[in-house]
Amino acid sequence: MAKRIDVSGLNAYYGAHKAIDDISMTIEPRSVTAFIGPSGCGKSTFLRTLNRMHEVTPGGRVEGKVMLDDENLYGSGVDPVAVRRTVGMVFQRPNPFPTMSIFDNVAAGLRLNGSYKKSRLKDIVEKSLIGANLWNEVKDRLNKPGSGLSGGQQQRLCIARAIAVEPQVLLMDEPCSALDPISTLAIEDLIGELKERFTIVIVTHNMQQAARVSDRTAFFNLAAVGKPGKLIEIDETERIFSNPSVQATEDYISGRFG
Ligand SMILES: Nc1ncnc2c1ncn2[C@@H]1O[C@H](COP(=O)(O)OP(=O)(O)OP(=O)(O)O)[C@@H](O)[C@H]1O
Ligand SMILES: [Mg+2]
Repeated sequence: MAKRIDVSGLNAYYGAHKAIDDISMTIEPRSVTAFIGPSGCGKSTFLRTLNRMHEVTPGGRVEGKVMLDDENLYGSGVDPVAVRRTVGMVFQRPNPFPTMSIFDNVAAGLRLNGSYKKSRLKDIVEKSLIGANLWNEVKDRLNKPGSGLSGGQQQRLCIARAIAVEPQVLLMDEPCSALDPISTLAIEDLIGELKERFTIVIVTHNMQQAARVSDRTAFFNLAAVGKPGKLIEIDETERIFSNPSVQATEDYISGRFG
């Protein structure tokens, strides 16, 4: 199996509290992997260990290995800022920079790393907005503030901002949970298109969404409140939703869950 991300023996802590325990998994290139599981089982925490965002939280600490192709993201000498450029993130609530124009929102990451030719900026912004399926809706108002867009448009703007820096992996933490059903479908369609270029990991509480958008699904669970979350199983999405190996997965996806 081709690998893009290969996680082994990963633990994450908040101070003394161990939030996730001994997670190992492989994520294939150009695929969508969904993370599902009950609240508090560590989905967001684990997602943030994949681009070294977890350690930004006070007390946040990680043990274990995350290989992106041939590089351990936690290896000595690895620059976390560079990791976050390679492994981009889209959050639950659309978070465009409110005072910035639509154009500047998309350009923000590029300007920050300064790794582009000035003459190409307009092209990259346009390409990213096209890639995020937002171009037609905003091409006549690129200089208006990003905060003037609808929630679904703002989320697509954040996706445009994330893909403008050409990451290899895109992490999405419940990207549709603040959106209406139409915007949700627009984002799901977009995920289907983006996976041809990027490796995508999405956290979702919406079982239909996991079934619709992902190739593989990982189910996380925790033995009891306060205990660390564990990976219970990861498999082809079709299999997880039709014939999972573990009873707890079956109980969770069928809604029989305490
Ligand atoms: N900033 C933090 N400080 C301390 N503990 C935290 C922090 N963020 C999360 N935790 C704890 O870590 C554990 C995992 O939380 P996490 O947010 O990763 O779960 P989740 O699966 O994403 O839940 P949800 O589905 O509700 O988003 C929980 O016990 C949570 O209380
Ligand atoms: Mg979460």
